[in-house]
Amino acid sequence: MCIDTLIQQLCCTHWLDQAQWAALLRGAGAQEAKHLAQAAQAEAVARFGKKIYVRGLIEFTNYCRNDCYYCGIRRSNAKAQRYRLTPEDIFACCAEGYDLGFRTFVLQGGEDAGFSDDLLCRTVETIKKRWSDCALTLSVGERNRGVYQSFFDAGADRYLLRHETANEAHYHRLHPAALSLARRKECLWTLKEIGFQVGAGFMVGAPGQTAETLAEDLIFLQQLQPHMVGIGPFLPHKDTPFAQEAAGSTEQTLLLLSCVRLMLPQVLLPATTALGTAAADGRERGILAGANVVMPNLSPLSVRKKYMLYDNKICTGDESAQCRSCLQHRLSSIDYEWAVERGDSPLLGTPRTSASTVPAQSG
Ligand code: 5AD
Ligand code: FES
Repeated sequence: MCIDTLIQQLCCTHWLDQAQWAALLRGAGAQEAKHLAQAAQAEAVARFGKKIYVRGLIEFTNYCRNDCYYCGIRRSNAKAQRYRLTPEDIFACCAEGYDLGFRTFVLQGGEDAGFSDDLLCRTVETIKKRWSDCALTLSVGERNRGVYQSFFDAGADRYLLRHETANEAHYHRLHPAALSLARRKECLWTLKEIGFQVGAGFMVGAPGQTAETLAEDLIFLQQLQPHMVGIGPFLPHKDTPFAQEAAGSTEQTLLLLSCVRLMLPQVLLPATTALGTAAADGRERGILAGANVVMPNLSPLSVRKKYMLYDNKICTGDESAQCRSCLQHRLSSIDYEWAVERGDSPLLGTPRTSASTVPAQSG
């Protein structure tokens, strides 16, 4: 298969089959990556202009019952200093974020039974009542349908749950036996059915990943048609079983961002913190390769160093108290601007307004 033909097909039809994806990923060198980035950036600019949606990330608990081999807040990491914010702490982050211009808040945490589903629902309800012009995203892992439905009824608009890898054997290379790919995928389909704007995604360069497993990831995304896709490089954490594994590369992450933008032109695609950690200008380069979202940290400075999924995470020191001005400067350096909007998926007809998020009456 000729790589230029594959690139042309991707740009024109937004579709490749699994063997074609694998061939493209195996064959793409620096020249092809540049070509793909230009085409991907043009797709993003055609839909979103030179505006970047901004999501305020509130990492509200680092307790987690899971033990994913790559993750710094895994249950078995006894060195992790555990913390859990109170709803009041979370509201304080929202108040500060709102004043800074954030119109989406993302509550992310480990799978923490100590922050009950009920408390999370009440927290969501309060945020949606107090900041009714803001979107609320949850990223709290796997729950059953009834719980997801109650989060939605409480007013949550979006849900992030990376699938991590769509290949069964690879899933087991990254996770203990208690976790299953089938369950992960089922959660994503359920979230979509309930009506969330849904985000899937994966790490680039995770141990055991190949062009073939990446091709499966892309085919899965093609099937799922998520509203958002989170992609960042794998970065090792010193207190995990993957401490000695090699990090994913910035270049390959950029290539995958471009592939996803060209496959799903309307998708909301963040230039992630992990990409900004892998390279000082990683997020800017992510935008130039097709990304259109950034997710700065709004967590209290006192806990930021404790939400260490991987080593050397950026925006965790005192210098990051003002991520907004740092990011604004970074965006303007590449001729982009910060969009003060909710930034819902263009795939939605009419996003739910605050009036339609009132919990349904039972009975
Ligand atoms: N390197 C990069 N990304 C990681 N994540 C977890 N651990 C790491 C790591 N070591 C990602 C996972 C998860 C998201 C919240 O962070 O993909 O879904
Ligand atoms: Fe956080 Fe630059 S974005 S310090």
